[in-house]
Amino acid sequence: TCPPEVRIVEVGPRDGLQNEQWIIPVRQRIALIDALSASGLQTIEAGSFVSPKRVPQMAGSDEVLRGIARAPGVSYPVLVPNAIGMEHAIRAGADEVALFLSATESFSQRNINCSIAQSLERAETVIAMARRHSILVRGYVSCVLGCPYEGAVKPSAVADLAERLVAMGCYEISLGDTIGVGTPRQAQAMVQTVSHAVPLHRIAIHFHDTHGQALSNVLACIDEGVAIVDAAAGGLGGCPYATGASGNLATEDLLYMLDGLGVATGVDMEALLDAVALVENRFGVAARSKVFAARRRR
Ligand code: HMG
Ligand code: MG
Repeated sequence: TCPPEVRIVEVGPRDGLQNEQWIIPVRQRIALIDALSASGLQTIEAGSFVSPKRVPQMAGSDEVLRGIARAPGVSYPVLVPNAIGMEHAIRAGADEVALFLSATESFSQRNINCSIAQSLERAETVIAMARRHSILVRGYVSCVLGCPYEGAVKPSAVADLAERLVAMGCYEISLGDTIGVGTPRQAQAMVQTVSHAVPLHRIAIHFHDTHGQALSNVLACIDEGVAIVDAAAGGLGGCPYATGASGNLATEDLLYMLDGLGVATGVDMEALLDAVALVENRFGVAARSKVFAARRRR
């Protein structure tokens, strides 16, 4: 059975835009985040403090953080991979950051240029810095249902990493099917394994929709009691270091399902679609969602 409430973590302004062909200027990213803030979302990922040579789409995330109108009760996390990123995030006034590690060695090397063990050391450093500044830390584990370089991934490897991140001080762990290869029963089994190591209320799920399984995977996982779900407005997104991976689950498709199931989210569909319309009409990036197509606005 589904939980009565689900918190949607909007990752569009980060995961959605980091992989677009065009670099969306800072003022438009600010406009998108402000539009999303008006929809009732409680968590909106605002950017990423990584190497601008590696991910030029996220350059200027400090200006984005400074430029948004922070809505009361809304958190605006940013990705940080290491101490340099954390210093930048602190200087820009971040109140929440997200670490991102991989369940497989090959993806860790390609994505963040270090081994899993080294990424855990970096995580310790970042968490210590965060603690000194009372900044919340979210953790991501990538490749939880498959790796673009290594194929199948053991749920126990995901559970181990998630457990260590929580022990270090992450308040929540987002389990990422980075390349969107998982199917519902597999996703459910993975979440069950992780829930033996990490309490359910600290588990979030993050599906890319490469093979059209994202929404079904969410349903299978919320039936297990998971109550935090990542999604990107307009279904944008992907990871530049995961070839072939497509967009995130679209927030509006997720919301349509949750509304239909009677699961409370606090998010208003019309306001959310206004934000998606901004992406499509002003940024010129085509939305990739069923709900937006069904209610196309110009
Ligand atoms: P590195 O180990 O120093 O090595 O960086 P590098 O060769 O990758 O980069 C070196 C350059 O970056 C140096 O500058 C550093 O000073 C600089 P240079 O000497 O060439 O002028 N540098 C930085 N600059 C700005 N901010 C920093 C920073 N750190 C070093 N924080 C690093 C390691 C992780 C920074 C780099 O590999 C990188 O930026 N990678 C990009 C990773 C990324 O953003 N991936 C996408 C996000 S993850 C994702 O999408 C998955 C997720 O959605 C969940 C899921 O779907 O599974 C979260
Ligand atoms: Mg992702």
